[in-house]
Amino acid sequence: MNSNKLALRGDLLDLTGTPALDDVDSPVVRFRPDHWLLIEGGRIQAVLPGAQAPGDDWQREDHTGRLLMPGFIDTHVHCPQLDVIASYGTSLLDWLDTYTFPAEQRFADPAVAAPGSSLFLDALLAHGTTAAVVFPTVHAESAEALFAAAAGRGMRIVTGKVLMDRHAPEALRDDVAGAEADCERLIARWHGHGRAAFAVTVRFAITSTPEQLAMAGGLVGRHPGLYMQTHVAENRDEVRWVAQLFPEARSYLDVYHRHGLLNERSVLAHGIWLDDEDRALLAATGAHISHCPTSNLFLGSGLFDWRAAVASGHRVSIGTDVGGGTSLSMPRTLAEAYKVQAMQGQRLSAWAALHAGTRGAAEALGLGHEIGTLEPGLAADVVAWDWAHGPVATHRDAVARGAIAGLSEQALHARVFAWLTLADERNVAATWVAGHDRYRRISSTP
Ligand code: GUN
Ligand code: ZN
Repeated sequence: MNSNKLALRGDLLDLTGTPALDDVDSPVVRFRPDHWLLIEGGRIQAVLPGAQAPGDDWQREDHTGRLLMPGFIDTHVHCPQLDVIASYGTSLLDWLDTYTFPAEQRFADPAVAAPGSSLFLDALLAHGTTAAVVFPTVHAESAEALFAAAAGRGMRIVTGKVLMDRHAPEALRDDVAGAEADCERLIARWHGHGRAAFAVTVRFAITSTPEQLAMAGGLVGRHPGLYMQTHVAENRDEVRWVAQLFPEARSYLDVYHRHGLLNERSVLAHGIWLDDEDRALLAATGAHISHCPTSNLFLGSGLFDWRAAVASGHRVSIGTDVGGGTSLSMPRTLAEAYKVQAMQGQRLSAWAALHAGTRGAAEALGLGHEIGTLEPGLAADVVAWDWAHGPVATHRDAVARGAIAGLSEQALHARVFAWLTLADERNVAATWVAGHDRYRRISSTP
C-alpha cells in the first residue's frame, strides 16, 4: 500500500555510530522499545513514544512486540544463482564450471531474466533485505531485467552487466568493445535514475583480459559516481591462477589497483587471502570488503580475518553471496560471521554484526545519508521482525527477556544476539521500501 503518512509501532533498533568488534556494551546502540516510527512521503519523519499515538491523519500499524529495524543491505549476491544454491561437492573453480556457468547461460533470454529478477528481488524482501549490490550475468539483458524489476519495487539496487571475456564458456563471454558499449548504454539508461546505481562488474581477474580490465578502469575513471564490484582472494587455487595470469602484479588485489578499479565505491567480495599490504591498500583507496561467511564455509574457501581488517582501517560489509552462499537471510549470514570469527579465537558482537549489515554497509557504499538507520530524513526502508519463531527461539527469548528487567546494554545484547543467531526469514513479518508495503507474511500473528 502506498500510504503518505504511515506510523509503525514496535521496538525500534538501530545504530548511531560504529561499535567496536567485540563490544557488547556499546554506546552507539539505539534501542527504543515500544515507539512509533512516523513515515511521510517515503521518508522517516519522526519517532514518538508508544503512549503518544499520532493523530487520525496517520495510518497506524501496530507491531507491538516486534523489532522494527532498518532493512538489511546485502553487499554481494548473485541474482541468477538461485538456480544453483545448495549444490553439492565442489570448491570455487569447480563449482563455477559445474553448476554456475551453465545456470547463468539461461539469463541470456529475457524471458528467463525477467521472472528470475522478480523472483530474486521478492525473495530479498521476504528475507528482510531492502537494498543490495548484485551480480546479474554477462548478458546486458540480465542487467536490464534486474534494473527494471528493482525500479518496479522502488529498491536501491547497485548492479551492472558482468564483464568476462575469457576462461568461461563461449555463451558467457563478451568482448571489450561490445561490453563497453553495453555498459555505456546501461549507465545512460539506469545510473542515478530513481534509486538505481550502476556498478562496473568485473567477475574476477581470471575471467577478464588485461584489455578488458583496462576498459573497466576507463569506465570508472570517466564516470566518477559509478560503483565497482568484483571478487578477490576467495580461494587459494584462484589466487595461484591470478598470480600466473598477472605475474607483474604484487598481489591479486594489486591487479585491480593497477587497472584503476579501487576507490571508495569499490566492493570486493571475500578478501580472505590478503596480506597487510593489501589491507593497507584497501584502506588507502577507500575500497571495502564484502565478507560472505556462508559462502566461505560452504565452498571451503577459508576464514576471513575481521580483526585484521579493522586494524588496517578498511571497511567491511556483509554479503550472502548466494548461490555460493547458502541463504539470503542476513541474520543467518551474520550468525555464520560470528562463527567464522570464533574459529579464529575472536568475537563479533551482535552490534558489530548488525552494523555491518545496516549502517556500516550504507556508509561503505556512500549511502549513509539515505539508508541503514532509522534517522529522520532517511528513506523508510524498514522491516518488522518477530523476536522469535518456533518453540526453541520463543523459549530462549523469554529467558533473555526475563534477564533484561534492568535493561542494561549487556542484557539487551544477550537478547539481540540470541535473536540474530536464531532468526531467519520466518521471523520477517513485513517489509517496507521507501514507505511502500512490499512484503507481508501470509500468517502474521504478532
Ligand atoms: N568468483 C568468480 N565468480 C564467482 C561467483 O559466482 N561466486 C563466488 N563465490 N565467487 C566467484
Ligand atoms: Zn560472489
